[in-house]
This record gives sequence, structure tokens and C-alpha cells, in this order.
Amino acid sequence: MTNSNNFNITPSSDGFGATLRGILLNGELSTAQVTTVIDALNQYGVVSFPDQDFTPSSLENFSRRLGKFGDDPYVQSMEGFEHVIEVRRDPTETAPIFGSLWHSDWSFQKVPPSITALYSVEIPPRGGDTLFADHRRAFESLSPKLKQFLTSLEGVHSAGPAYSDTVGLFSKDDDTRSMKILVSPDADNFVTHPVVRRHSPSGRDALYVNHVYTTAIKDLSRDESDVILKFLFSHCTREEFTYRHVWQPNTLLLWDNRCVSHYAEGGYEGYSRLLYRTTIAGEVPVASEGL
Ligand code: SIN
Repeated sequence: MTNSNNFNITPSSDGFGATLRGILLNGELSTAQVTTVIDALNQYGVVSFPDQDFTPSSLENFSRRLGKFGDDPYVQSMEGFEHVIEVRRDPTETAPIFGSLWHSDWSFQKVPPSITALYSVEIPPRGGDTLFADHRRAFESLSPKLKQFLTSLEGVHSAGPAYSDTVGLFSKDDDTRSMKILVSPDADNFVTHPVVRRHSPSGRDALYVNHVYTTAIKDLSRDESDVILKFLFSHCTREEFTYRHVWQPNTLLLWDNRCVSHYAEGGYEGYSRLLYRTTIAGEVPVASEGL
């Protein structure tokens, strides 16, 4: 454990993920304290802050300290809180669980978000964990030849698989869904991003592909693309690169979408689950500078 600006920082044993205690984040924070939070996130990829006390309004205020808000295109925000989404599931809901496939938030945008903040309000007595995959270590573990090849590629990203008005997993009509999904034909648009992305704050490279939104690799045949993506998805989510977050109420979690993917697990049928979420704008993904 280390101490910095009144935070106690406990990294996980493999250096992916850390817990920060000691400061209530809904109060006045000094610039040095905000820098400590951002530095920890840059280093550990996902950081948790137990025993916090946020309302939607104070979560918006805290999020503003991390950067400008990102654009959340397909989920209706909370009434009165333009930048807060309720990640909500009611006990009787049967629609597919929001976030229940590996993804990096909104990677289909030209300028995808850097950070996501998720604050737990109501947590079921069992299930409902969130899993995270470390795409920096996943990339670093590959052989130099494969790294070099991947560094020359661009991935095609689209919101279609999740939010297309015809086939999207989360946009299909379902009376039991408690989150309001905003269906739009724009979901079928696509953008391309480098398959290997430089994580500018740490200077480390990360695999920037994810199971939900990366639909192909540009300029490869469908078969070639499918084989490579299948390998990359399973490689990134190998057990040694993942962290399982078991929620308690009143915990804030921050993660860096530029180098981390995540997955919301089920297993809490018959119980409610409620979290507040904000996203912080990022930058146009920049390709790795090579080996
Ligand atoms: C999400 O993908 O943002 C949802 C994560 C979760 O509900 O655990």
C-alpha cells in the first residue's frame, strides 16, 4: 500500500486494478488529489473507491473534474441529469443484460470516451459482478512478429450489433427492459480505429478491439478477419489478464476504455441492481508507434 494526497492506494497483485481509500470524492478535491486519481487510473486501468456517497448531481460534479463529458448516444439519461445514465435492472426483467458482452465503451465513435465512472446504488446479494480485461498486458504478451503485424491493421467498429434498430441485442423491443434504449439507424454506421492503440498517458500500447463493436478488420477477407478477431477476443480475456469486481453498494469504479474492456455478468435473477454511470470524452485513437 502507498499513500498519496491522503489516498491509501492498494494495487492488485498483478498490477491491473487498484483500490483507493481515504477520501470522500463528493466533497472539495484539490487539484493534487484529482491528479492522484487520474495517475492511478493511468497506471492500473481500473480503480475502485469503496464507501463513497454520491447522488447523480455530485457524480456529475466529480466527473467534470476528470474531463469533458462524452456523448452517450443510445441510452436515455436520467431526468434532470443530462450526463448520468442509470444502469438499472428490475427483478422481473428478462431482456439481455446491458453490457453483458465484452466491450470498450462506445468504441464505434470517432472520438470514443476515455474514462467511464460507475457508482453502485443497489447491488444484489449474489451475482452482478463486472469483469475487466487488461488490453495493455494482453498486447505486451504477444510475440514481436505478431505485434508488428497487428500494428499495421485497422479495426472496423459499429454500434449495429448492440443498437441497430433491426438486429441490435439491446434495442429489440422488450417490455420488461427498465433502461430506455434510443434506437437510431445511425447505429449501423462504422468507423475504423487502429487495432493497436497507443495509450498516450502511459505511453504503453493496447489492443483496441472488443467483442461487441469490432465487427471486422479492414482490408482482410471475412474469413481472415473472423479468425484474427476470434483469437484477439479470447486472448484479451484470458484469466491472467482479467479482474473481477465484486460490488458493494456505495462504490465508485473508474476504468480507462482506451486500454480496458469490460463485461457485466448476470446471476441475480429476481433482484434489482442499480448503478449511476457517466462517461468522459477521450481523443481520436492514435496508432502505436511500433516496436
Ligand atoms: C456497462 O457496460 O457499463 C455496465 C457495467 C455493469 O453493469 O456492470
